[in-house]
Amino acid sequence: MRLTIRDIQTMYTDGEPLVMLTAYDATSARVAEAAGVPMILVGDTLGMVIQGHVNPVPVTLEHEIYHCEIVVRTTERPFIVGDMPFMTYSISTEQAMTNAARIMQEAGASAVKMEGGEWLAPTIKRVVQAGIPVMGHIGLMPQSVNKIGGFRLQGKDVASARQLLHDAAAIQEAGAFALVLESIPAPLAQMVTEELHIPTIGIGAGPHCDGQVQVFHDILGLFEDFIPRHTKQYAKLGEAMREAIEHYVDDVRSRSFPTAENSFTMKEEVLAELRADRLKNGASH
Ligand code: KIV
Repeated sequence: MRLTIRDIQTMYTDGEPLVMLTAYDATSARVAEAAGVPMILVGDTLGMVIQGHVNPVPVTLEHEIYHCEIVVRTTERPFIVGDMPFMTYSISTEQAMTNAARIMQEAGASAVKMEGGEWLAPTIKRVVQAGIPVMGHIGLMPQSVNKIGGFRLQGKDVASARQLLHDAAAIQEAGAFALVLESIPAPLAQMVTEELHIPTIGIGAGPHCDGQVQVFHDILGLFEDFIPRHTKQYAKLGEAMREAIEHYVDDVRSRSFPTAENSFTMKEEVLAELRADRLKNGASH
């Protein structure tokens, strides 16, 4: 049975650290579920790790629905959060409601996530009122990377830290059930976490958040362009995959793959008839 928002709330009130991991396809979703991940985010990081872009801006609603539907269909238990892509919820409240509804109905997500502070609160309020659970996302908001000029730590000075505290309160007040805090100083994340009564889920926000989220490819060493400081590589799968494929290439080139073990045979009498045909037709070998 799929976990519900009440299960997530119970984990939070019981003081159980919330674990969220991204997944984008059947393989990553099944592995995450088998490892016991209770919350999967079909993040717009798919723009980088699946589509090969430098940021999530090119990801469309159709892309998100496509990946989210796969993750929902191939898992049974995790609570699935569908990320709302760039400009799919910021033009108007109506636009946000229509597009959030598509992620819920067409992909079957358990909730949606939106990036934005106080300015987004009225939209979140309406979407929640309509029956769609919303996870907020403040701090570094990768969809705004063109505005801020890169993936940078946020909330470093007094003014921006105050604004972030303000944003967090507004998102909670609007009815969000959880809040992602991305790339902010750990003491600030701790303050936000202490002030809210909804769970904070950190990425690059230190150890005091109620939960953590990481990108599948980062923790498994599959994204090798660089290692973000906020992540920890629990495996070097990129390296392992490369080595395995090199072996395959060598085996094919040296004709040591496939062997009889990887091949299929056929009945002797069928083969005999085929050989006879070839002799009749004048085949020389
Ligand atoms: O898109 C994503 O994967 C995210 C996480 C990094 C929080 O928003």
